[in-house]
Amino acid sequence: MRHVSTARGLFATPIASQVRRYAAAAEASPILLQNHPAPHSGTIRVLLLDKADTRNALSKRLVKDLRRHVDEIKAEGGTGGTRALIIASNVDKAFCAGADLKERRSMSQEDVSAFLKDLRSTFTELSKLPIPTISAISSTALGGGLELGLCTNLRVFCSTATVGLPETRLAIIPGAGGTFRLPALIGPNRARDMILTGRRVLGPEAYFLGLCDRLVQVTEEEQSQEGKAREKVLEVSLQLARDICEGGPVALKAAMQAVDGWQKGEASENAAYDIVLKTEDRLEALRAFAEKRKPAFKGR
Ligand code: COA
Repeated sequence: MRHVSTARGLFATPIASQVRRYAAAAEASPILLQNHPAPHSGTIRVLLLDKADTRNALSKRLVKDLRRHVDEIKAEGGTGGTRALIIASNVDKAFCAGADLKERRSMSQEDVSAFLKDLRSTFTELSKLPIPTISAISSTALGGGLELGLCTNLRVFCSTATVGLPETRLAIIPGAGGTFRLPALIGPNRARDMILTGRRVLGPEAYFLGLCDRLVQVTEEEQSQEGKAREKVLEVSLQLARDICEGGPVALKAAMQAVDGWQKGEASENAAYDIVLKTEDRLEALRAFAEKRKPAFKGR
């Protein structure tokens, strides 16, 4: 993959089949698309949020375009070409600033309710995708921006990134999963602390809390270089996705299914194990071990 550095930042230039936007709608999409080859087969899909003037705030358009990507991946059923999904930012100053507060000003109460319905169902569908998903949080993620990050399976943080749920400062409460996805991830007590105070948490504390799975150290010098922090966080996220995709495709899907059903305990694991027992890839792994080589999985 050729990285392109321009005045607008890294990855900003759409290169055919490497970086593209949906061109159908009159206004350019606020989401850039990259596809990177995944080990064995298929691709790692990277969605780059790219609306610098609102710090990638969740506008109606951004949510609509995100939904289109989520629906495309869902339609593949976990056995199509997309092996993993990364949500990242193409903007230095934010991963996502949450609700689009400018757009919100001109919306009626009914408009807000309709928007919230779309946002919630988009986030829920994202959280249920049958492929591994990663948020590359290179900068600020506030309110809905953090709630977006909570919908992916894993989160890679820049050491200088700040996240928070400041909704109570705006006389509202988190409305897109913050009050249930955050407690599920870091425990109700720590979630209550973040939600009631609305305080901002830096990368290292997020790692300590279990909100962040990989912490990418960025020096002051790197922080001052345009696009550098984003580039580093995206590279670590891509490496994480590649590491995951080295596994057998059917096994990865079954493992996700088993862990999703962890509250059912043994039943969930046993049902998922039955799936992998029947695969050609399992036999290929045994052959590769005996022959001291890397397995070549086919997803069957
Ligand atoms: N919705 C719409 N526009 C937003 C926005 C949002 N959530 N957050 C920032 N913007 C816009 C600002 O209005 C400003 O636009 P302008 O140039 O027309 O005035 C532009 O983005 C830059 O904002 P600024 O605050 O100067 O950028 P920054 O890089 O210094 O700080 C943030 C970035 C995200 C930390 C800061 O903008 C912020 O705190 N935003 C509000 C976040 C929030 O409370 N979200 C809602 C949670 S419910």
